[in-house]
Amino acid sequence: MPKLNENYLNLKESYLFSEIAHRVNAYTAANPEKKVIRLGIGDVTLPLGSEMITQLHEGVDALASAETFKGYGPEQGYDFLRSAIVDYYCQNNVSIESSEVFISDGAKSDTGNITDLFDKDNVILIPDPVYPVYVDTNIMNGRQITFIDANEDNHFLPMPNYNIHADIIYICSPNNPTGAAYNKEQLKEWVDYALENNAIILYDSAYECFITDKNLPRSIYAIEGAKNCAIEFCSLSKTAGFTGTRCGYTIIPHDLKFIASTGKNLSLNAMWNRRQTTKFNGVSYIVQRGAAAVFSAKGMAQCRQNIKYYQENAKIISDGLSKKNITYFGGINSPYIWFKCPNDMDSWEFFDYLLNNAQVVGTPGAGFGKNGQKFFRLTSFGSRENTIEAMARIDKLFA
Ligand code: MLT
Repeated sequence: MPKLNENYLNLKESYLFSEIAHRVNAYTAANPEKKVIRLGIGDVTLPLGSEMITQLHEGVDALASAETFKGYGPEQGYDFLRSAIVDYYCQNNVSIESSEVFISDGAKSDTGNITDLFDKDNVILIPDPVYPVYVDTNIMNGRQITFIDANEDNHFLPMPNYNIHADIIYICSPNNPTGAAYNKEQLKEWVDYALENNAIILYDSAYECFITDKNLPRSIYAIEGAKNCAIEFCSLSKTAGFTGTRCGYTIIPHDLKFIASTGKNLSLNAMWNRRQTTKFNGVSYIVQRGAAAVFSAKGMAQCRQNIKYYQENAKIISDGLSKKNITYFGGINSPYIWFKCPNDMDSWEFFDYLLNNAQVVGTPGAGFGKNGQKFFRLTSFGSRENTIEAMARIDKLFA
């Protein structure tokens, strides 16, 4: 009999968004006449911009003739896309090399897969509440996690505590689920802490495109010293509406090196390259053609237009909550609005209440950690019509 990975016994029975889908499906099956509005998972609703569509089509056409056909591509991604990402960072005054960029099918996979590079015995520091992938993937590997509180007292931006040692630190900024974003000075404190502890920061910048405040860093590499202590993950899911198309990237600087027990200097970039060439065959050429279009002037302008639309939705949600005197966070520099459940309800209780009484689906804060117990998350990625209607229903519910 195989010995199974019994760390799975330590996981919640299902992944947060699977649990939500399960409850919503049960509700719609029992109430087929009700129109349910889904503002739970952060899934986009607007179609891809025409520039991305054109390039996706070109990618398909290339496969139709022997001269331009593509078989296996480079596991790290095609140079045309890696270079486009380097240029994008350059526009934000961050200099990286294309050999530091690894193309993937999204930040979810890479933030999970990166755990392959680390021994089981590391002190993992994760803010609570947090995107559940960081927690679940470490539990799957049997690692102990130390949580740091992100709450109203610290504006959902916990700062390093030098009394706690950490080897691996997860930071998501702008944050999923709270919408809070670190400024440069705060991020510098984390970088200094990581350097002093010889630790590594796993920095998820999947929501950087929602930053409107020019003083906020869009990459951790805007902070001096970060290339010696941080890996950055990003995704085109929210930047360009690629939730279904699937494309993201991970940046591992060449300067990121640690000494192994043998005394050998190990490069994380080389280790990830070894891991990817063994376990991954790259993202399809077609998708990478579409992804490269995101970084063209025309493509980026179209993406920005869609982002603006979602930002307007965020404002509609925030205004609706303000009107009801519901305390909320996020919604600026972030597509997520994080608010206190009305009437002191627990978040799953509020989830059921909202679904049953207003047919609006959100995400219960408890799914992101214990500090989310009394909070709820709405996404601005719905259609305008649904966003307006959802807020009208909430307005009526708490009249
Ligand atoms: C979310 O709703 O938290 C995100 O869409 C999940 C993800 O990006 O995987």
